[in-house]
Amino acid sequence: MAKLPKNVGMNTLLAHAGHDPQDFHGFVNPPVVHASTVLFPNVETMQSRKQRYTYGTRGTPTTDALASAVDALEGSAGTVCVPSGLAAVTIPLLAFLSTGDHLLCVDSVYHPTRRFADTVLKRMGIETTYYPPEAGEKIAEYMQPNTKVVWTESPGSNTFEIQDIPAISEVAHRQDAIVIMDNTWATPLYFRPLDFGVDVSVHAATKYPGGHSDVLLGLVSANERCWEQLHETFIWMGCIAGPDDVYQVQRGLKTMGVRLAHHQESALKIARWCEEQNGISAVLHPALESHPDHDLWKRDFSGSSGLFSIVLDGGGPSDGAAFLDALQIFGLGYSWGGHESLAVLVSLSDRIVTRSDYGGPVIRLQIGLEDVDDLIEDLRRGLDAAAAAR
Ligand SMILES: Cc1ncc(COP(=O)(O)O)c(C=O)c1O
Repeated sequence: MAKLPKNVGMNTLLAHAGHDPQDFHGFVNPPVVHASTVLFPNVETMQSRKQRYTYGTRGTPTTDALASAVDALEGSAGTVCVPSGLAAVTIPLLAFLSTGDHLLCVDSVYHPTRRFADTVLKRMGIETTYYPPEAGEKIAEYMQPNTKVVWTESPGSNTFEIQDIPAISEVAHRQDAIVIMDNTWATPLYFRPLDFGVDVSVHAATKYPGGHSDVLLGLVSANERCWEQLHETFIWMGCIAGPDDVYQVQRGLKTMGVRLAHHQESALKIARWCEEQNGISAVLHPALESHPDHDLWKRDFSGSSGLFSIVLDGGGPSDGAAFLDALQIFGLGYSWGGHESLAVLVSLSDRIVTRSDYGGPVIRLQIGLEDVDDLIEDLRRGLDAAAAAR
């Protein structure tokens, strides 16, 4: 870990945390170590494992550089690097749940998280209950004696509800349940989960840390209480990320602060423009004063990123398709957090206890790094096409 003065700002951390150049001949960036075998000097060292690195699945100078940078950002005791954001979801669930346990999961969760709970966890004899994102301290009504994990994601996927994380953590901890948060939207720059009572922070580093739509990676960061168990499960599962992907993400971190500030500013400008348009009935962005959870967002978050949704004013999926097919700059594709803008038609058919009917097609926008005026012109093309399709 690079030595830094105490209490430096986030951009200073991004630029310097992680790799200490003096650990590798003064080179500014960490080496990309491709490794399975690590040699030991003698049998005694091999048997006692008294050596920093012992095998590729247990970490390398490359994974350590990224993990220690993320620990500095998250305030965590330890971080593991896994091959995708989805693996960053499934590994902590497997680490902290056993047969007969109960999982409480927010209903506005990223769909593949739900799919994992409803298939693999169910098969293992772990029951899941979905609770509404606005539960806050009322989460107590959903807790069961065997609730071992409370899964949170804030804002919620696609509809951007903000959860009262401190209230939920307080209730969960009364019976020692572990609170896990998917913090991909805010990144530790705009929300530090562990400061708000969360035990394990999950990140799809594929998004803003990677930043260029060319790498898949997940990060899981735990507090002291949870680190050993998380780390052990990660090792037993052999689920380490590849060195080139880890390097790409630690490289991406260096510019994440400036990229995120740009995503934030452009997304807010576009969200405010969308609020004024006739063909749009609602804009789901928690940093807008019109958002029902705006006050909660303002209390806990220090910024907003580039992902939000709009609701077209009436119509069905074919109006949504007309809007999307008319776009020339926004690409039609999954994921987000990269340099380029994307749009998708959202399906809320998996929701159980959360609102799923918004009175018109819900379209999720990822605002990239292009010029705002060009993106607005593109959205105008989409709105004209949706109006013409009526
Ligand atoms: C909130 C959230 N968490 C996790 C993931 C999974 O990330 P990955 O695509 O790297 O598996 C995604 C991907 O879209 C996501 O939106």
